[in-house]
Amino acid sequence: MCGIFAYLNYNVPRSRKHILDTLVKGLQRLEYRGYDSAGVAVDGGNDKNWDNNSKVIQLIKKRGKVKALQDEIYKQDLLDFDIEFETHVGIAHTRWATHGEPNAVNSHPQRSDKNNEFVVIHNGIITNYKDLKKFLESKGYEFESETDTETIPKLLKYMYDNRESNEISLSTLVERVTQQLEGAFALVFKSVHFPGQVVGTRRGGPLLIGVQSKHKLSTDHIPVLYRCGKEKKAVSTLPRVDGDTCLYPIGEETGVEYYFASDASAIIEHTNRVIFLEDDDVAAVVDGRLSIHRIKRTAGDDPARAIQTLQMELQQIMKGSYSSFMQKEIFEQPESVVNTMRGRVNFDDFTGTVLLGGLKDHIREIRRCRRLIVIGCGTSYHAGVATRQILEELTELPVMVELSSDFLDRNTPVFRDDVCFFISQSGETADTLMALHYCKERGALTVGVTNTVGSSISRETDCGIHINAGPEVGVASTKAYTSQFVALVMFSLMMCDDRLSMQKRRQEIISALRTLPDLIKEVLALDDQINSLAHELYQQRSLLVMGRGFNYATCMEGALKIKEITYMHSEGILAGELKHGPLALVDKLMPVIMIIMKDPTHTKCQNALQQVVARKGRPILICEKNDDESKLLAYRTIELPHTVDCLQGVLTVIPLQLLSYHLAVLRGFDVDFPRNLAKSVTVE
Ligand code: M6R
Repeated sequence: MCGIFAYLNYNVPRSRKHILDTLVKGLQRLEYRGYDSAGVAVDGGNDKNWDNNSKVIQLIKKRGKVKALQDEIYKQDLLDFDIEFETHVGIAHTRWATHGEPNAVNSHPQRSDKNNEFVVIHNGIITNYKDLKKFLESKGYEFESETDTETIPKLLKYMYDNRESNEISLSTLVERVTQQLEGAFALVFKSVHFPGQVVGTRRGGPLLIGVQSKHKLSTDHIPVLYRCGKEKKAVSTLPRVDGDTCLYPIGEETGVEYYFASDASAIIEHTNRVIFLEDDDVAAVVDGRLSIHRIKRTAGDDPARAIQTLQMELQQIMKGSYSSFMQKEIFEQPESVVNTMRGRVNFDDFTGTVLLGGLKDHIREIRRCRRLIVIGCGTSYHAGVATRQILEELTELPVMVELSSDFLDRNTPVFRDDVCFFISQSGETADTLMALHYCKERGALTVGVTNTVGSSISRETDCGIHINAGPEVGVASTKAYTSQFVALVMFSLMMCDDRLSMQKRRQEIISALRTLPDLIKEVLALDDQINSLAHELYQQRSLLVMGRGFNYATCMEGALKIKEITYMHSEGILAGELKHGPLALVDKLMPVIMIIMKDPTHTKCQNALQQVVARKGRPILICEKNDDESKLLAYRTIELPHTVDCLQGVLTVIPLQLLSYHLAVLRGFDVDFPRNLAKSVTVE
């Protein structure tokens, strides 16, 4: 969804062109999240005197792609691109429309007034914006956009215009504004009244700060300042910038650059040293010094923010020789599942130990729980469905798998002796995050299964598993699914490692995990065959995918991939339900993909196959190589290698990932940016 990027250079001379190029590049790195307009704000004058330039803010905004914004920027003959700034703040945003259609006025940065005194970029939704707007209108403020966001800079200006002292800081004003906001947000501010300063804050949306300096930094932990109790008076004064409470470079010419972003992928090419902000942190850079404030201290608050080193490589978020991120990510699966297992499964030890470091301190408590609830949206939900059976078998616990939004709508009863898993690639999905808050309030133990270090879900859960699949950029989730799958299978193995009666089954699964990456490679080698199938199917309007047991999740996940990027109608159907309705859809024209593997459901799947053939259906089978019985009835086959039943789904989903990719290419759609969708769904 929306993306935030801001760049501050302090005592590092940069041309306006360099600054704008940095902002545009930052936005390009966020494009994969999904958006429909973009904008930037930079200091606007052409005066060689920096002080004069910073008194005007130039806003450039455009509907459509970042490329369109870039063209718009360089069309502006108002701006001297060669002019140099010793110190400068630029902010930039990609917007995914929620309130008001995608157009330049509704895009961010949003402004306080016609003179652009305060500008802001915002991810999230302000739920009480109507009340705020009414209040501000009653004070004479005029609104120009349809957005909820516009209330924020206007409220800031209202606070500024009504300040009790000229000494007030931008961070204090921002604190006051955020106290009035309800909803979820990550915000970054810039103002003509505070040149060379930037302030960022968050509640419910991610925000991190990258720092780059040739000089040694004053600290690797920034203590958080609290404005409460005796310090209350400090509210109206400038933030303290003494060495103990902020980060600054040490050296003769203390140049430093800061990058604020909602996503690490926009920062990594500049620096790998980052600070993840917590909810209600207000981070301000004043005179090149970064300090972090909070309104009040609550029990359990971490008193400092560490500068962490990002493990991500730039190359991981580049397409390389692939035509799309989705294609690259499908082909990365032999390595990404290895990375999920790395250091966690001991293949050499005959007892087959599985150790998930993030769970080891809680495993006894988890073993004692009354039920497991697995919660997620879309593909992440399907990973829960795919592993429910093995979780039930190896943990001998009741396992509920829930869609986050439905779980919340139902006010599902949750108890202290439940263990709730939150599956999310991004770790930021709003519905899943809300479900997490709901379960925490009811005292359940919460476990995150995410792919994003530092994400809200990974930080707010009691413990968790990082799936280590590497950055997933394509909106259609592929390698995250197979890694979530493997992570949940590893969890079920860890749960029963002390159960003698389960050892044979455990060994069977662990041996299958060892060979899984090679089997994935074998399936990927079928790409040409799947491409030719796509040539046969791409003009169809609809595609049914049927299966049961361990492969029902593959049907739903395959159908989701197909509808998401090819815009064809597709349905995942439980083969056991065929005669209860869907069979009516089957005729000689309707393409039907059936997944039939040699597991305990084989005979029942054969029955479904017979029923389809009897209605003149022409089934395309995804089956095992030696399944001659099924192949006899097939119109076409995609033959897969054999693996243990509970891991088949990792192999059976890959032909459908490849098929959806080829169908989308043949239908002429942008594989990585499907219409109307975003990578990270941060609104309910
Ligand atoms: O980041 P999350 O795993 O929480 O995202 C959940 C869904 O939005 C996501 O899996 C979505 O269904 C995918 N785009 C499907 O490919």
